[in-house]
Amino acid sequence: MISLLISENQPGQAQQLADKLGDSEEIEIVGYARDGLEVAQITAQLRPDVALIHADLPGMNGFEACQMAAMASPETACVILLDSGQESPESQRRAMRAGARAVIVTTTAADKLAEIVREVAGLKECKQQSEYELISDPTKMPVTIAVTGAKGGIGKTTIATNMAVCLQQQFPGQVVLVEFIGQYGDATLMLDLPQSRGIAELASYDELDPDLVESHLQRHSCGLKVLAAPRSGGIAPDSGDITIPYLADLLGILRRSYRFVVFDIPPLLEAVSTYIFSRCNYIIVVTYLLDLAAIRDTTTLLASLTDMKMPPERVKLVVNRSGNSSPFSLSDLQQAVKRPPAAQIPEDVATTTGALNEGVPVVLGAPRSAIASGIRKLARTIVAELPQGADR
Ligand SMILES: Nc1ncnc2c1ncn2[C@@H]1O[C@H](COP(=O)(O)OP(=O)(O)O)[C@@H](O)[C@H]1O
Ligand SMILES: [Mg+2]
Repeated sequence: MISLLISENQPGQAQQLADKLGDSEEIEIVGYARDGLEVAQITAQLRPDVALIHADLPGMNGFEACQMAAMASPETACVILLDSGQESPESQRRAMRAGARAVIVTTTAADKLAEIVREVAGLKECKQQSEYELISDPTKMPVTIAVTGAKGGIGKTTIATNMAVCLQQQFPGQVVLVEFIGQYGDATLMLDLPQSRGIAELASYDELDPDLVESHLQRHSCGLKVLAAPRSGGIAPDSGDITIPYLADLLGILRRSYRFVVFDIPPLLEAVSTYIFSRCNYIIVVTYLLDLAAIRDTTTLLASLTDMKMPPERVKLVVNRSGNSSPFSLSDLQQAVKRPPAAQIPEDVATTTGALNEGVPVVLGAPRSAIASGIRKLARTIVAELPQGADR
C-alpha cells in the first residue's frame, strides 16, 4: 500500500485528486494539506510514501513546502503539481532544487497520475538491493588491495594469491583476485585453473555489465574468483588494450559484487598501475633482501606512492624470502626506505616449489608452514584495520 498526502491551492481540488486516484487500490490517501506549512507539517509527522504538492499553495509556496518536507522526511517522494500552462524549465529547476522527484500538471489523466505515484513510491525499493547494505554499513564497505613490488620474481603473485585465499576463507564468496601479468608462476597456475577468458578478452567489449564480468571470472574450488591475465607475457603498458575508462568500469562492477578485490600488479604498467594504486585502500609492496637493486627500486616505488599522496599507513611493506641467506639485513632496508616492514615472509623454496608443482597455494596445501602462517598474518593485519563488524 502506498501512503499519499495530497494538497490543494483551491477548495475542492484535493477532493478531485482523491477521486482521480480513487480506483487505485494500492494507493491510500493519509492526509490532506491546504497550505504550504501544512504540507511540510503533515509530511514530517506522517512520513507518507508520496506527497503531491501544488506549486502555488497559500502561505508558504509549494516549492518551499517541498524543500522542507523533503528535508523532514527524506523517504517521502515529493511531486510538484503545476497548473497547466505553468510548466517551464524554470519551474522544473525550482522543483529539482526543492528536492522533488517529479513534476506533473494538474490535468494529468488519472491512470497516468497513479502510475507516477507508483513509480516515485518505488524509488525507495533501492533499500532492498544488496548494495544498499554496502553503503549503509561501514563494516561491509568494499576493500581494494594491490599487491605490487619493484621487480619480477619478488613474490607478488605468491603473496597476492595466498592472501586472496586467506580472505576467501574468512569472507566466503566475497573475494576476487585480478591479475595483470601472467609471467613466472601466474595466479591461475598457482591455483591450477584452466586457461580461459580473462582481463584482456573482457577489454574487447564496448560496455561491461556484471554478468559479462562474472562470465570472465574463474572459480577456484576454495570459492575464490579469479580474473586471469593473458598467459603470453601479460599486458604491455602501451598496447592500448587496457584503458583507464575500462579499468574504472571493471573496478566499479567488481566492487559492487565483491567485498575484497585483490590486484596482482607490477608498478611498471604506467598509467594503469598508477590508476589502480589510486583506487586502492591498501597497497602491499613486496620486496626482498637478496639484491641491492631490489632495495633501491623499492625505495623509488615507495617514494612514488608517497608522491601520489597515498597515506603511509595504507602502504604495507612486506619483506619476502626473509632468512639467513639474505646478503642484506633488515636494517639496511630500513635505512633506505625509512620505515619498518609490516610483515616478513620467510624463504621456503621446498614448500613454494611443491605448491607450484601441485597447483595448490601454500595456505591450503601446507597451512602449517612458516610461509603460510606469515601470509595469513598479513591478511589478518589488514582485516584487523577494517571497521569492526560482526563478521570479523
Ligand atoms: N617466500 C618464498 N620462499 C621461496 N620461494 C618463493 C617465496 N616467495 C616466492 N617464491 C618463488 O619465487 C618465484 C617468483 O615468485 P612470484 O610470486 O611469481 O613473483 P612475482 O609475481 O613478483 O613475479 C616463484 O617461483 C615463487 O615460488
Ligand atoms: Mg607475478
